[in-house]
Amino acid sequence: MKIRFTETVLRDANQSLIATRMPIAEFEKILPVMNKAGYYSLECWGGATFDSCLRYLDEDPWERLRRINAACPDTKLQMLLRGQNLLGYKHYPDDVVRLFVKKSVENGIDVIRIFDALNDLRNVETATAAALQAGAEVQGTICYTISPIHNLASFVETAKGWKALGVQYLCVKDMAGIMSPKQAYDIVLAIKAATGLPVAVHTHATTGLAFMTYLKAAEAGADVIDTAISCFSGGTAQPATETLQYVLKEYGYETGLKDDKLREINNYFKAYRAQCLASGLLNPIVMATDTDALTYQIPGGMLSNLVAQLTAQNKLDELPDVLAEVPNVRRDLGYPPLVTPMSQMVGVQATSNVLYGRYQNISKEIKAYVKGEYGRAPGKISDELKKTILINEEPITCRYADLLEPAVEKARKELGSLAKCDEDVLSYIAFPTQAEAFLKAREEKRNRTVKYTIVKTES
Ligand code: CO
Repeated sequence: MKIRFTETVLRDANQSLIATRMPIAEFEKILPVMNKAGYYSLECWGGATFDSCLRYLDEDPWERLRRINAACPDTKLQMLLRGQNLLGYKHYPDDVVRLFVKKSVENGIDVIRIFDALNDLRNVETATAAALQAGAEVQGTICYTISPIHNLASFVETAKGWKALGVQYLCVKDMAGIMSPKQAYDIVLAIKAATGLPVAVHTHATTGLAFMTYLKAAEAGADVIDTAISCFSGGTAQPATETLQYVLKEYGYETGLKDDKLREINNYFKAYRAQCLASGLLNPIVMATDTDALTYQIPGGMLSNLVAQLTAQNKLDELPDVLAEVPNVRRDLGYPPLVTPMSQMVGVQATSNVLYGRYQNISKEIKAYVKGEYGRAPGKISDELKKTILINEEPITCRYADLLEPAVEKARKELGSLAKCDEDVLSYIAFPTQAEAFLKAREEKRNRTVKYTIVKTES
C-alpha cells in the first residue's frame, strides 16, 4: 500500500493562515531540506501567491518560482489554477491562458491542479490542453460541495469528463473542510472505479473532520493527500503532515516521507510562526476547530467575510438572517459550489437581500453569472431571477471565452519597454495595477543601479 503527500505550507497553508504573506526570504533556506523530504509534490504557486507577491511582497512571482525550482530539483512543484480564470476572478481569452500555462511550466511547475468553480469543464479545456502539451501533469479537479443536486453520480460524471480531456490525475477538492470521512471514502472509491485514474484528496482542517477524512480516503485507495507541516497546520489550513505520516505508516502504508527531514522543516518554520503570532499576522483563532461550517455548510473563509462585511456596516445582528439567506441565493443560482469566486458572489448577494430586500440590488457579477459568463450553472437558475436580469436578452450558452478577443499583443503594446519578457506581460494582464506599479519600481531601481555603476567607472 502506498500513499504520497503534497506539502501545502508554501501555498494553501500560507494562504489560509496568514493571507499569503510569507515572503520567499522566510522559506528559501529550508527548500533544500523540503526537496529531500520525500513529498509527492510541493504546492508552492498559484492561488493567491501571485497576487500577493506583486501587491504586498514586492516580489516578482515568476522569479519566486524560478528560485524555488532551482532549490528543488528532486521534488515536483505544484500550482493551483482556476481554469479560464487563471489566478484571477474573470475569464481570460485563450491566448492568455495558453501563454500563462506554457510559461508556468517553463519556469518550473510540474503539476497543475486545474479547477472550475462550477465544475463546467468547458472552462478548463484550454488550460488542460496547454498544460498537457507543455508536458505537465494535470490534476483534474472535482469541486466538492453539498447540495440537493450534487451527489456521487454527479461527481463521477465530472471525473469521467476529466478523463476524456486526457488528464493523468484526479483531485477531489473540498475547499470548505466539510467533506466527511464517509463521503471521502465513497467518492474516492467511485471515481477510481469509474476512471482508473489516481486520485489526490484536498481538504481543510476547519471543522475537525480532516484527519478522519484522509484516513478513510486512504482506505478507499487515495494516492495523494494534501497536508501542512505541523506548525503551519490545522484550522483553516490542512491537517498536519507528521501526524498523518505517523498514522498511515503504522497502518503499513509506504509514504516515502523522511521523519528526520519533516522534523527539520517543522523546527525551521516554528521561528517564523512565532514572528507571525507576535505581529498579529497569524490569529490563533484561525488555527482552532470551528464546526459552524458544518451547520451552515459554507466555507469558513466565507463565514468570516460575512462577519467582516456586516461588522463594517454595523449590522452584525443581521448575521443569522444572512446565513439563512445564503441557501436561498444558492438555490436561485442553481447551486454553484461555494468556492472562489462564487462564495464571495453568493455572500454579497445574500447580505444585500437581507439589508435592502430580495434582489433589490443585484451585483454586476451575479448579473454576469446569470447571463452565462461564468459557464453553465450546475442546476437550474430561478426563472424569476432570469427574468429580472435578462429582461429580453438571451443568455450565453457557448463557452464564454469564445467571445473574448485575444489580449497578449495588446497588453505587450500597452506596456512598451516596461515589459522585458512574456512573464511581465502575463503579470500585467493578470493584475494590471499591481504589475504596472511593480514593473515601474523595478525600472527605477535598475536605472539607479546603472547610474551608480557609470559614476563608479568614471571615478
Ligand atoms: Co484549499
